[in-house]
Amino acid sequence: MFVLAAVGSAVGLGNIWRFPYITGENGGGAFVVVYLVCIAAVGIPVMMAEVLLGRQGRQSPINTMRSLARRSKASQGWSLIGWMGALGGFLILSYYSVVAGWALYYVYLMAGGTFVGADGAAAGAAFDAFLANPGLLVGFHTLFMAITIFIVGAGVVSGLERAIRWFMPLLFVLLGVLLLYGATSGGFAEGFSFMFSWNWEQLTAEGVLEALGHAFFTLSVGMGAIMAYGSYMPSNTSIPSAVLMIGVLDTVVAIAAGLAIFAIVFANGLEPGEGPGLLFVTVPIAFGNMALGVLFGTLFFVLVTFAAVTSAISIVEPAMAFAVERFNAKRWHVAFLLGIVCWILGLGTVFSFNAWADLHIVGEMTFFDFFDFVTQKVMLPLGGLLIAVFTAWVLPKKIVQAQLKLPGGRPVEVLWEVLIRVVAPLGVLAVFGYTLYHFFFG
Ligand code: PHE
Repeated sequence: MFVLAAVGSAVGLGNIWRFPYITGENGGGAFVVVYLVCIAAVGIPVMMAEVLLGRQGRQSPINTMRSLARRSKASQGWSLIGWMGALGGFLILSYYSVVAGWALYYVYLMAGGTFVGADGAAAGAAFDAFLANPGLLVGFHTLFMAITIFIVGAGVVSGLERAIRWFMPLLFVLLGVLLLYGATSGGFAEGFSFMFSWNWEQLTAEGVLEALGHAFFTLSVGMGAIMAYGSYMPSNTSIPSAVLMIGVLDTVVAIAAGLAIFAIVFANGLEPGEGPGLLFVTVPIAFGNMALGVLFGTLFFVLVTFAAVTSAISIVEPAMAFAVERFNAKRWHVAFLLGIVCWILGLGTVFSFNAWADLHIVGEMTFFDFFDFVTQKVMLPLGGLLIAVFTAWVLPKKIVQAQLKLPGGRPVEVLWEVLIRVVAPLGVLAVFGYTLYHFFFG
């Protein structure tokens, strides 16, 4: 159950929507390598740490951090990890819901046969027309938020997680269909070499931070979501093997989505650096030009929406768990309040793509860019850094060992120690430092 829930949390828009488009924006190749290194050397160890903190604390992330800090005779300031996560949840869900609304709208478009026989120009025009229509964007943002509020409020989360057992394999099948289409489209080889060539000259300091931030985002690590789930994990389940499995599955989905999408990009002469619309201007072409495309395409976007819902419920879990614990609040009330706040914040993202496209709230950033930046590039890496430092340097070592029960003896133990004590914290710090340096000194 923990693995299902955590896979539901991890696999989402981050894999299918975000990973391909940021890979395209950052020139492919080297970016993908850095991303994979970040997953393996930072994301997975920090995820193990986050799960073990949750399972040791068995409370909401805020109170878990409080009680673990007390047990470690450390400052209550460590509860910052929990607070930042709860706040980050609001910010992430605000734009997550808007983009999930896009997927929901595409269920409708696909089912209506809009893309039958469509080429790149038609798919692009349909997406542009959609983005230019704030009313429609708000409508689907509202619909997605309502679904999330309903599920979180009614507490049917576990029923939904059982459904992951069926939905996740189906998602794999449909990604397979897309890959098959990609393989016969004439763009596969080019897409493959785009993703896996060593084009280091394309990689910027910002791209490295992007890869690191995305590694946290896609694994749902650094803001307490996985800590909250860990608090429900039975004591006899192995953390290392569960986390490894989640990490591998999550990465496979992202790579498969990327390969399929870039095959379509190159077969149709599209732009890899298209930006946040990449998923929506590529995948419809494929489904629009294959047998049973209406059926498969509709199902695909249903599955993307489902994957987004199972992630969304984990994004609000840290705040939800705290409110229920601290104020004895009713789930419905919390869900509603959370939903309304995120919905309002989400309007900033909606208008970033039309009416406020030229409204730069910080530097060159629109609302969407700003929420995305603050959460992925600041809060998640910072949260991950603090989680690593707390687990490795503050929490008594015997607690960590008792929770982790690393298999494989001394060599694995040494590897864990090196990753969590040195590589993860210094990795995040180095990337932060490098980015700041470039920001100030060009
Ligand atoms: N991991 C989710 C995705 O890839 C997003 C997420 C981020 C979920 C942070 C929970 C916490 O879509």
